[in-house]
Amino acid sequence: MHYNFRNDYSEGAHPNIIKALGNSNTEQADGYGEDKFSFEAADKIKAELGCNNADIHFVSGGTQANLLCVSSFLKPYESVISAQTAHIEVHEAGAIEFTGHKINTYPGINGKLCPEQIQEAVNFHYDEHMVVPKLVFISNTTELGTVYRKKDLEAISEVCKKYNLLLYIDGARLGQAIKSSVADASLADIAKLADAFYIGGTKNGALIGEAVIIINPELKPYFRYNMKQKGALLAKGRIIGIQFDELFKNGLYYELASHANNMAMNLANGIDAAGYKFLAPPESNQIFPVFPNKLIDKLSKDFEFYVWSKYDENNSVARLVCSWATKNEAVDAFLKSI
Ligand SMILES: Cc1ncc(COP(=O)(O)O)c(C=O)c1O
Repeated sequence: MHYNFRNDYSEGAHPNIIKALGNSNTEQADGYGEDKFSFEAADKIKAELGCNNADIHFVSGGTQANLLCVSSFLKPYESVISAQTAHIEVHEAGAIEFTGHKINTYPGINGKLCPEQIQEAVNFHYDEHMVVPKLVFISNTTELGTVYRKKDLEAISEVCKKYNLLLYIDGARLGQAIKSSVADASLADIAKLADAFYIGGTKNGALIGEAVIIINPELKPYFRYNMKQKGALLAKGRIIGIQFDELFKNGLYYELASHANNMAMNLANGIDAAGYKFLAPPESNQIFPVFPNKLIDKLSKDFEFYVWSKYDENNSVARLVCSWATKNEAVDAFLKSI
């Protein structure tokens, strides 16, 4: 069997979404996200957040959500604090820096930023010859597939409040974070702790799209102007609205995230039982086993996956990702091969 464990966006979209897009195809609707589908989706998300006055904007991708939020929320001399491993630091081609904002990075632990490191950033920057750290960027799940516990988020939120910093959460895989077996923070908890965040659709069964959620009233004005200026205000915004409306119908969003996590946990348990270790604890749908290079060569004949980093002379870290559509047979075939 040949299978691709490279990422969670190798398939199209969940059939309910394709059906909904088809059913609504010839129906006319207003443009630029001011259509009934987007409004209905936003209402469902607000109900889930327990926050009626959240602003919700549907955008096409994760990099776009991040750069829109950073550029909209910060003054020119303000900076972002993140873990060294953060997606914005490593994998977004300098998109944040291109908006004019420096990223102050700290080592983190297993991909997670710690309150002490935020404190360090605040202490280190003290006058007008330096940037002013203002926005704390974390992603949940993290770049290493780990998950922030509610107490981690509360501790980060507390230090943010103490120093008047904004807490922004990149939720490309927020569903997987919430449904992780180690997780105890709901969407409503996250809405209470963060100033803004986004709920990822692309990596959880949508064709395309993320929902940016702004909670802090001071960050709400003129966001759509910034979207327009950055080419992010889609004339056919309905396309993303329809998808989120489906995802938040009857818990589909959570069901898909749970499936992806369960498949990855089955993989992780089998890999662990075979005696291999992991770069970071497997907690969601992305896992990072350490394999001998020879085994990686052999596995690569039947399976696609990223070789994440060198571990030592003879071993490397692989990244295996399961999606809403991964089948048991693919997991079984991989485990049989190792
Ligand atoms: C945590 C995280 N944030 C942002 C992104 C960027 O998303 P996109 O490729 O849609 O711009 C990714 C994509 O892999 C991601 O994993």
